[in-house]
Amino acid sequence: MNRNFVLAGLIATVLVLAVGASGCVGTQSTQEKVLVVGTSADFPPFEYKDPKTGNITGFDISLIKLIAKKIGYDKVKIVDMNFDSLIPALQAGKVDVVIAGMTITPEREKVVDFSIPYWTADQAVVVRKDSNIQINSIKDLYGKTIGVETGTTGAIYVKDHVGKNATIKEYSTYVAALEALLNGQVDVIVLDSPVANMFVHKYPVKIAYTIKTNEHYGIAVRKGNTKLLNEINQALKEIMNSPQWEQLIKEYFGS
Ligand code: ARG
Repeated sequence: MNRNFVLAGLIATVLVLAVGASGCVGTQSTQEKVLVVGTSADFPPFEYKDPKTGNITGFDISLIKLIAKKIGYDKVKIVDMNFDSLIPALQAGKVDVVIAGMTITPEREKVVDFSIPYWTADQAVVVRKDSNIQINSIKDLYGKTIGVETGTTGAIYVKDHVGKNATIKEYSTYVAALEALLNGQVDVIVLDSPVANMFVHKYPVKIAYTIKTNEHYGIAVRKGNTKLLNEINQALKEIMNSPQWEQLIKEYFGS
């Protein structure tokens, strides 16, 4: 092997790397379009921290990345916070969109705009696997200690329908509510059925009862941000009608 030839090769490689790197930096500082996304990463399989890497991942995260790419963003920046901080953060302009398994409700629609629905859920009453608590109606929750996540439809439902007839404990994340259930600090937790199903597969808990609330999840944008909302809706429709949708479901729900 000719030494000069090897040397020339090395120099060429270094040059290519240098140009590549500076090219990157150039785009980053000048024109990279970033979509800032708020979520609450305690809600598997929609958004959660990967146990190995600690990175935020999930169905919603992959979905918003696909949408962002389709509507011309180079990058997505995920901002994790408590669920009840998401709408204030959106209103304050700290994030551009919220995707967090968030139910479209008339109260929320007064303050933010929602995309077309992309998922449905009910509320599940979850107990420890060895529990003999029987729930056949909402009234069976009377006298119980109930764990919920602050600001969620589950929390609102329990307050409205059980109220003072039970002890309601609010947690800032559903992960904390689940821990409280496992530790015996609460008798039941009430949360969205798809997430409850996930918890049943991973922890010693079971679903005692399902409250048919028929909720629809939407992606939220600031009120009046019609341009972004229309773009998101268009992209969402395309994705939901493409094989990408089944792939997402397979990846995060396993079927
Ligand atoms: N769907 C329920 C709601 O909108 C619960 C959502 C909780 N999401 C989360 N990422 N923790 O209130």
